[in-house]
Amino acid sequence: MCAAVYVLSTVTGYVLTSALLLKCPTLLHRKKRENFLSQHISHRGGAGENLENTMTAFKHAVNLGTDMLELDCQLTKDEQVVVSHDSNLKRATGVNTQVCDMAYSELPPYLCKLGVTFQRECFCEGGEDKRIPLLRDVFEAFPNTPVNIDIKVNNDTLIKKVSELVVKYDREHLTVWGNASNEIVKKCYKENPRIPVLFSFPRVLQLLGLFYTGLLPFVPLKEQFLEIPMPSIITKLPLLYFFLHASECLIFSCSLLMRKSLFEHLTARGIQVYIWVLNDDEDFQRAFDLGATGVMTDFPTRLKDFMDRNGISKLQ
Ligand SMILES: *[C@@H]1O[C@H](CO)[C@@H](O)[C@H](O)[C@H]1NC(C)=O
Ligand SMILES: *[C@@H]1O[C@H](CO)[C@@H](O)[C@H](O)[C@H]1NC(C)=O
Repeated sequence: MCAAVYVLSTVTGYVLTSALLLKCPTLLHRKKRENFLSQHISHRGGAGENLENTMTAFKHAVNLGTDMLELDCQLTKDEQVVVSHDSNLKRATGVNTQVCDMAYSELPPYLCKLGVTFQRECFCEGGEDKRIPLLRDVFEAFPNTPVNIDIKVNNDTLIKKVSELVVKYDREHLTVWGNASNEIVKKCYKENPRIPVLFSFPRVLQLLGLFYTGLLPFVPLKEQFLEIPMPSIITKLPLLYFFLHASECLIFSCSLLMRKSLFEHLTARGIQVYIWVLNDDEDFQRAFDLGATGVMTDFPTRLKDFMDRNGISKLQ
């Protein structure tokens, strides 16, 4: 009897404490310092409106007032950090070669027309600018725009060089970096802990476990950004992409993550929640209704119009 009362009161105490701390996390954790808040994020610079990851795309997005550029990095043979999503350039340039096998000056230009990954049957026709840019070009052109960097290759030199560029251009407070791989994120954090990191996929799964067991409010988190796909995007991906990349596990875990109480808890701790890659009003609405900090889109103009129409105002 006594033991039962003890267990019951302990469990009740745990549940109540967990619920309280879920709502008021700053009782236990110092809120992370947020140097910027991004609501409007241009995926690869806005791959639906300009050729992905080109300077023209980035300029267009920044002129529109985007809060953040999302881009991908690779290393060339002569150890230049370039902005390119794919390691192999066949899809984007028609030339079957690896970025790491070519010097920067040898990289082929993009094709005139590229498919938009997160929009089925959609192609983007580019203009004059078909050049794969250096990361440095982006930092020089937009010294005040936050940039989200996906480290696309598990290469120590790449991680080191990106960190050096971020430091050189005085952008530690304007950068977030990472990858779905936990090994890469760990290396990034070790290389330069002053640059905030995002949750890798294994850490997203851990987060899920912590949330549903009520442990999350008690656990310190080093990451400052949660970037997750909305499950509904699966239906918009080209079928081939779906079979090649999307595991049921990912879809399932992401649908379990779409919880307002989780987003509120994280944002109260200074962890921003970004949802990708959303390209229509219905999904924009759903993401903001859930309390996401921001939305990554291939169509920056569409997202801006949506935000203007719905009075979603600047957070800063
Ligand atoms: C990292 O990239 C550079 C340049 O492409 C290459 O020379 C080096 O071998 C790579 N390192 C690893 C560990 O793959
Ligand atoms: C993470 O890195 C791997 C290589 O290790 C790459 O294939 C993948 O595209 C990267 N993913 C993201 C989201 O950056």
